[in-house]
Amino acid sequence: MKVLVIGGGGREHAIVWKLAQSKKVEKIYCCPGNAGISELAECVDISVNDHEGLVNFAKYEWIDMTIVGPEAPLSKGIVDVFEKRGLRIMGPTKAAAEIEASKVFAKEFMKKYNIPTAEYRVFTSYLHAEEYVRMKGAPIVIKADGLAAGKGVIVAKTVDEAIEALKKIMKERVFGDAGERVVVEECLTGEEASYLVFTDGDTILPMASSQDHKRVFDNDEGPNTGGMGAYSPAPVVTPEVEEKIIEKVMKPAIRGLKREGRKYRGVLYAGLMIKEGEPYVLEFNCRFGDPETQPLLTRLNTDLLEIAMAITEGRLSTMMLEWKPEASVCVVAASGGYPGSYEKGKPIKGLDRVKELEDVVVFHAGTAFKDGQIVTSGGRVLGVTALGKDIRQARDRAYQALGMIEFEGMHYRKDIGLKALKR
Ligand code: AMP
Ligand code: GLY
Repeated sequence: MKVLVIGGGGREHAIVWKLAQSKKVEKIYCCPGNAGISELAECVDISVNDHEGLVNFAKYEWIDMTIVGPEAPLSKGIVDVFEKRGLRIMGPTKAAAEIEASKVFAKEFMKKYNIPTAEYRVFTSYLHAEEYVRMKGAPIVIKADGLAAGKGVIVAKTVDEAIEALKKIMKERVFGDAGERVVVEECLTGEEASYLVFTDGDTILPMASSQDHKRVFDNDEGPNTGGMGAYSPAPVVTPEVEEKIIEKVMKPAIRGLKREGRKYRGVLYAGLMIKEGEPYVLEFNCRFGDPETQPLLTRLNTDLLEIAMAITEGRLSTMMLEWKPEASVCVVAASGGYPGSYEKGKPIKGLDRVKELEDVVVFHAGTAFKDGQIVTSGGRVLGVTALGKDIRQARDRAYQALGMIEFEGMHYRKDIGLKALKR
């Protein structure tokens, strides 16, 4: 079969890497892809937001299956476009993807279906929002309703910080229309975990648990990023917690979306706060996580193309997932300055040496070719991912590999996976 993967980050490299192991896959295309992906797939320079270009390409190349990485094309309805043209694609429709694309929709949906989440209020008026924040006090969380490239959530430690966030979002409109409505919510404490499931809208197949590291510096300090590293499994998700996530979060979400006429097919991701053994939903995402996908897919034994086929054919109940018992740790190497502004085009050294290591895969996130060399081309550059008999060994292997890689300005967190060891 011919498969098209849409996206060009570390998550998409992991998806392509996994698909390349399937006996059923003859050829993989990736739009737009990156330098690492180009070793396994033919990269075609079509933007993830050019739906017309992508669907025409898929028609022309007789693509049998398309898998979408990022949220932007999903929330703009790429699945609807492909399905209308008779093409098979794994992912939620525009209506179903609203669970990520609108935080107001997600919160109201959770309230309606009794899914545990932080207490909240929705505001369209700046003055009312300010008044509410002053009444509630800090810490408090401000969220722009729409997609804001991961920057639309501010966990404010003080009332002043919260008000500044409200001003930026509602008055200055730094996120454009995404800030027309704002969710102000209670600040939850506990330990975060990511929980992803495959679903065809009826059956739910849970993936292994994982944990992301959102802040740029060690000990969860500094500003939020797209994610500086992840590991799987996450010990905070004990079997009891997992049961609660499935019963109190995933089942009501999938059933509720179906009841709302927004049947959900694809990967549903719940970002959770686990507090005293109880899961609370911080957000839903309508896709694979990045970087969680890197440790997850390195642990998955089951053929990803077969899962995708079963989802699109509505027969996920016939599948079982098999996981490697090993743990997996992914450490992200980022460009100097990230998540702020950074330079691109820095040559990356050491990638060939790391290829010789067993149990280590380097997923490329922001890389490109320049004059025959692999150079940096994004904020998150690489996701060095290793398997080990436990988190400790996987961590040691990932950091050993990272020590062999070099580019100007490279920085990474030294504490990925440490929380798992402290438990
Ligand atoms: P979100 O995009 O909603 O997941 O928010 C990004 C990050 O902000 C989360 O991963 C949490 O670290 C933090 N966050 C979001 N909502 C809350 C909340 N209600 N309480 C505490 N932290 C939160
Ligand atoms: N790792 C966070 C996300 O994918 O949204």
